[in-house]
Amino acid sequence: MPRTQFLGTGLALPDRVVTNAELSQVMDTTDEWIRVRTGIEERRWAREGETGAALGHAAAIQALDAAGVTSGELDAIVYATSTPDHFAPGNGVYLQKLLGAGTIPAIDIRMQCSGFIYALSVADAWIRSGTYRKILVVGQEIQSTGMDVSTRGRNTAVIFADGAGAVVLGPTDDPSRGILSFDLHSEGAHAELLWVDVPGSMYHPRISEELVHAGRHFLQMDGKEVFRHASTRMPESVRAALASAGCASGDLSLLIPHQANLRISEMVAKALALRPDQVYNNIQRYGNTTAATIPICLDECVRAGRIKPGDLLALTAFGSGFTWGSCVVRW
Ligand code: COA
Repeated sequence: MPRTQFLGTGLALPDRVVTNAELSQVMDTTDEWIRVRTGIEERRWAREGETGAALGHAAAIQALDAAGVTSGELDAIVYATSTPDHFAPGNGVYLQKLLGAGTIPAIDIRMQCSGFIYALSVADAWIRSGTYRKILVVGQEIQSTGMDVSTRGRNTAVIFADGAGAVVLGPTDDPSRGILSFDLHSEGAHAELLWVDVPGSMYHPRISEELVHAGRHFLQMDGKEVFRHASTRMPESVRAALASAGCASGDLSLLIPHQANLRISEMVAKALALRPDQVYNNIQRYGNTTAATIPICLDECVRAGRIKPGDLLALTAFGSGFTWGSCVVRW
């Protein structure tokens, strides 16, 4: 059975930079509070009319260029987002249309911050089984249009942001390279600790002035509980994925944790006894872009030479659902 290897990476971010100072003008917060509690210094928010599919497309073009693959050569698209441009259909088909990629399957994965890891696992299974050869995997979010940018929503509005990352995957017969293992979990008992209630088909109509007035369309989060679960589940999952691959945390060249909060990443690194140079973070510049954080980090690391052939890499994420998971790769 072939293994799955990464052929190319890409990213796209809105050009609108939103600083902590700008947020402190529209809500009761400070640059210091945000930096100390989350590590975030600035983030990118989409401009009016800028769509998620367009961001995904820009990231995909870079990844395809880096891979030397044309959109016509793709066999499938796996698109991770919890913030699609429309209730239905998902962004995968909009990306397929923008790429002019032929009538290939384009599926959406709705696993929030864990979306990219789950999307990789689907693509990996298709490649290893021989179902498809060249697969584009995208993680993309527009969170800025679903946040309460006021003091009432300050615990989420300062954290979440917009962006896209993409990778092109393909099969390799080289037994020393590629995706080695996954570890995936969910725990629906905590679904409402980090969620977006509306629009929802349990409401008739799915969205109303009353629901909007009550702020039910905004992202809601119990930050303390999310923090507690995220900082224990991610290291637990990295250990499990490493064990499945026959490796240990000391073997890691680099850990890319989902960029939830810099303090969470530091706790994950500490729990795994990793040195600072074994962990990559960019939340300081981009905030938490949900399913997009890991592919954005991957692209920055590849282009900066922080990931080289032969490196052992772990990717890990935790998010709404709760859902969490990890992936171990020999680059
Ligand atoms: N600016 C200033 N004060 C804020 C604030 C902001 N942006 N957001 C919340 N506060 C206030 C709270 O209202 C609270 O005030 P009170 O004590 O008067 O009630 C106080 O700060 C402390 O809030 P608390 O929630 O206890 O803070 P915290 O230390 O837990 O930090 C988070 C809050 C959101 C930064 C933190 O819980 C967190 O990072 N959680 C995980 C978030 C995350 O990673 N989500 C994505 C997962 S994929």
